[in-house]
Amino acid sequence: MNSTKAFSAASATSRLASVTIPRREPTAHDVQIEILFCGVCHSDLHQVRNQWSGVMPTVYPCVPGHEIVGRVTRVGSAVERFKAGDLAAVGCLVDSDRTCPECRAGFEQFCANLTLTYNSPDKHLGGVTYGGYSQSIVVDQNFVLHVPSNLSLAGAAPLLCAGITTYSPMRHWGVTQGKKVGVVGLGGLGHMAVKFARALGAHVVVFTSSPGKKEDALRLGAHEVAVSRNAYEMQKHAGSLDFILDAVSADHDINAYLQLLSRDGNLTLVGAPENPFSLSGFNLIIGRRSLSGSPIGGIAETQEMLDFCGRHNITADVEVIPIQKINEAYERLLESGVKYRFSIDMASLKSE
Ligand SMILES: NC(=O)c1ccc[n+]([C@@H]2O[C@H](COP(=O)([O-])OP(=O)(O)OC[C@H]3O[C@@H](n4cnc5c(N)ncnc54)[C@H](OP(=O)(O)O)[C@@H]3O)[C@@H](O)[C@H]2O)c1
Ligand SMILES: [Zn+2]
Ligand SMILES: [Zn+2]
Repeated sequence: MNSTKAFSAASATSRLASVTIPRREPTAHDVQIEILFCGVCHSDLHQVRNQWSGVMPTVYPCVPGHEIVGRVTRVGSAVERFKAGDLAAVGCLVDSDRTCPECRAGFEQFCANLTLTYNSPDKHLGGVTYGGYSQSIVVDQNFVLHVPSNLSLAGAAPLLCAGITTYSPMRHWGVTQGKKVGVVGLGGLGHMAVKFARALGAHVVVFTSSPGKKEDALRLGAHEVAVSRNAYEMQKHAGSLDFILDAVSADHDINAYLQLLSRDGNLTLVGAPENPFSLSGFNLIIGRRSLSGSPIGGIAETQEMLDFCGRHNITADVEVIPIQKINEAYERLLESGVKYRFSIDMASLKSE
């Protein structure tokens, strides 16, 4: 067994702090990765603070982080897809049973026996898995992704969650040229959604609660921007959107957005606020609209998304921080103040 430096939370109310955690010796099928950058997802904050206690209660200590890019340092004897020195990435999944119908169809994210990158039972070491706020990680080669060499690593890290979580539902719901697409919440996920929708050829409208983000929304690729508390700007889009991706992290009224959908339009939730939504059935009945959700994406689709980003030169707009700034970063996430994803430079962990 090896040990590695990491940042963890000891309880739902503790600040994250420096610790040492165990990592397994690579097995024949494993890839050992030195982590260079790890994105900061709002899910890390929800999980650290146990805000999803009803669905996936947090086990402490919790080492978050599932937007990982790094360099391969060692591979097991049976590993053929990677060698020492290669760039590699790990997202939200590090294992699944690989035998169920979902896994066989490439939908590992729906496997009943999936292993998430953190806060899942660890099949090798016992306890729970520890994520990317750490110097190294050991992952089965089938759950390790290739990073296109033209992408900046700090900006590529967030693709592993914010990227795939927005790309996957857009592909599923047929976002393409000629479609009018709304993105609600211009945060880490939202800004990736804007870039993908634009690259897929759609007409993109951003809905934001922050008037100060209007210019950024247009720069990121939106054709139009509406401030959600401006009734006139909202009403302008009534009944006109084919697809809306809702990436808001906090409680908000989804009925206002359902009314913007056209006949047979769909609103997909990727944002996962702590509390249940309230819904007027008429907003679905009128216009035969639908409401759905979507979690991350499977391994093959994650690689497809990374390759798409390589071809279109898409990365996240990041603010690179040292790990020592992580508690401050969480406070800024809560104020919708990140432009548009924190990416932790993991070299900063060496001084701990
Ligand atoms: N489904 C999945 O698999 C999956 C994967 C990753 C993350 N998530 C979830 O997706 C959500 C977004 O994650 P993220 O990392 O993108 O978070 P983020 O960077 O903090 O962005 C969230 C955005 O939501 C908007 N917002 C925040 N508070 C609001 C409020 N009170 N009313 C209206 N809008 C508000 C803000 O955008 P504006 O300033 O533009 O309004 C903010 O930038 C989180 O709940 C996260 O856990 C889900
Ligand atoms: Zn995430
Ligand atoms: Zn499975």
